[in-house]
Amino acid sequence: MEITTTYTDKLNRLLATYQVHYQNLRAIHWNIKGANFFELHLKYEELYTRTQVIIDDLAERILTLGATPIHRFQDYLNESALSENPTIHEGHAGMTYIHQAQETLLTMEREIMREAADCEDEGTNALMSDLVREKEKTNWMFSAWLNH
Ligand SMILES: [Fe+2]
Repeated sequence: MEITTTYTDKLNRLLATYQVHYQNLRAIHWNIKGANFFELHLKYEELYTRTQVIIDDLAERILTLGATPIHRFQDYLNESALSENPTIHEGHAGMTYIHQAQETLLTMEREIMREAADCEDEGTNALMSDLVREKEKTNWMFSAWLNH
């Protein structure tokens, strides 16, 4: 197994993207208004709590591979594939954001999974396939909620 900097940089970009996503989830949890408040406020909390665990797993995987996880907010903003959201109050807009953000994360994870297979990095491959399977399922649910 040969681990290159290009490879661990991709994992750091995924980490950065999850960090921005985490803060976006906190924001929609805080700012949700309307008839779906109780349902969505809780769902968003479940999502950011899970995202926090994923962030730690990713950072520790990067360390396990002998690289250094980025930790500065400025680096996260520079490297993230997702942008910081404006303030979102409306449930449909929040759920649409989550669905699209998860598609972005899935694209990144599938690419890393292919590279992990090429360099026989089974540990990263297993981590990515867990994340992919989980988000494919939840995106089916978000899609059903959004009714498209
Ligand atoms: Fe809260």
